[in-house]
Amino acid sequence: MQVVIAPAEELARTAADAVEELLARRPDAVLGLATGSSPLGLYDELVRRHERGLSFARVRAFSLDEYVGLPAGHPQSYRSVLTREVVARLDLPADALHVPDGTADDLPAAAAAYEAAIADAGGVDLQVLGIGTDGHLAFNEPGSSLASRTRVKTLTAQTRHDNARFFDDDPDAVPRHVLTQGIGTILAARHLVLLATGRAKAEAVHQMVEGAVSALWPATALQLHPHVSVLVDEAAAARL
Ligand code: GLP
Repeated sequence: MQVVIAPAEELARTAADAVEELLARRPDAVLGLATGSSPLGLYDELVRRHERGLSFARVRAFSLDEYVGLPAGHPQSYRSVLTREVVARLDLPADALHVPDGTADDLPAAAAAYEAAIADAGGVDLQVLGIGTDGHLAFNEPGSSLASRTRVKTLTAQTRHDNARFFDDDPDAVPRHVLTQGIGTILAARHLVLLATGRAKAEAVHQMVEGAVSALWPATALQLHPHVSVLVDEAAAARL
């Protein structure tokens, strides 16, 4: 595990360098995309590099997760968010973005189909990650199996509180269920790039880097992966 402590703008550039190096090697790479505020600096940096000629035309992209039950086109569905923040600002074709189908009648079947789509693409080359204040990755809340694959999960009150800012500050408006890649799915990606900034993430970052591997802090599973870049600012690194 490589840990980089630097100001947020530098972290975004470091993460973008990893994406750019991958695309130089493999223009049809498979990127794993995260939502939340942590990767926004990276996405802005990728847009700047795209404007200078970096092409995403052959890239395939997979979302980490999706809310269950938000109607298609809801502005806070992760398909909408990733379309708005990433796809629409790059030359990445709209049909190259894959997101679990949170509107499916048969959610376990949608989860299995998502795993199959990732496998068909040859697996994820570089997975962008944020971390929840409780140490969750994607929507793998504390207690999630470290071997889990894409499935339905129930959000904790803490996560619904944290994400209420996207739903008019109303935790009750945040969906209760999600489809999320499992920890096992995430660990199958070839390179994991995790971004975290701010004091609120300090305990989760401390556990992830220095804590015992445990389902109670799902991000500790990253210690089991051979190629992880943890990119954190001073505040998020405060407990290291
Ligand atoms: C959500 C997402 C996670 C993300 C986390 C942290 O719960 N499902 O993938 O890492 O929020 O979000 P933020 O980066 O906004 O702090």
